[in-house]
Amino acid sequence: MGKSERAALKNQKPCIIWFTGLSGAGKSTIANIVDQKLFAMSCHPILLDGDNMRHGLNRDLGFSEADRVENIRRVGEVAKLMADGGLIVICSFISPYRAERDMVRNLVAREEFIEIFVDTPLEECVRRDPKGLYSKAKSGKIKNFTGIDAPYEIPMRPEFHLRTMDQTPEQLAEAVIDVLKARAIVHGH
Ligand code: ADX
Repeated sequence: MGKSERAALKNQKPCIIWFTGLSGAGKSTIANIVDQKLFAMSCHPILLDGDNMRHGLNRDLGFSEADRVENIRRVGEVAKLMADGGLIVICSFISPYRAERDMVRNLVAREEFIEIFVDTPLEECVRRDPKGLYSKAKSGKIKNFTGIDAPYEIPMRPEFHLRTMDQTPEQLAEAVIDVLKARAIVHGH
């Protein structure tokens, strides 16, 4: 049995939902709500983020350019295997480089990769500073911090562009679910 049979058993189409954006943009908050909503719809999502990947499989990696490239390469390979198992794989990573996001995109079929740009202005991320990391980066205690002294390449043609200033995380997550329904990844109720 192949990927489509496995996914059909789960009443969904497999895909990788890729959240990209600055630290503090709200990626993981929205990704977590999408995960819960899909579960409540009897779907089979799985969430990959810095918390579960960088503490385990990728614990040997830091934040140099080479390490971020390797982080995303490994995450992409894991996400692909999980999609092969018929799962809806929700990924939440800064993934600052266009080339690496495109590399993951090219691991699966065209309709199976949904890039979502979580677009929060840097000033707002710095203002929120949920982990206190921007203040450390600004004072030089952390080097290579995305948006301060490391680059973030904004997506050129994401499948979905979430502007977070206008709506709550709940509303943004609901908008993502609507996209999944429109693409027949999941069925509406
Ligand atoms: S990525 O660039 O390789 O895609 P990833 O999403 O896995 O990054 O991890 C980002 C998280 O690691 C941030 O939200 C932040 O909590 C933490 N972090 C620690 N150091 C840095 C840094 N130098 N730049 C960005 N994030 C960092």
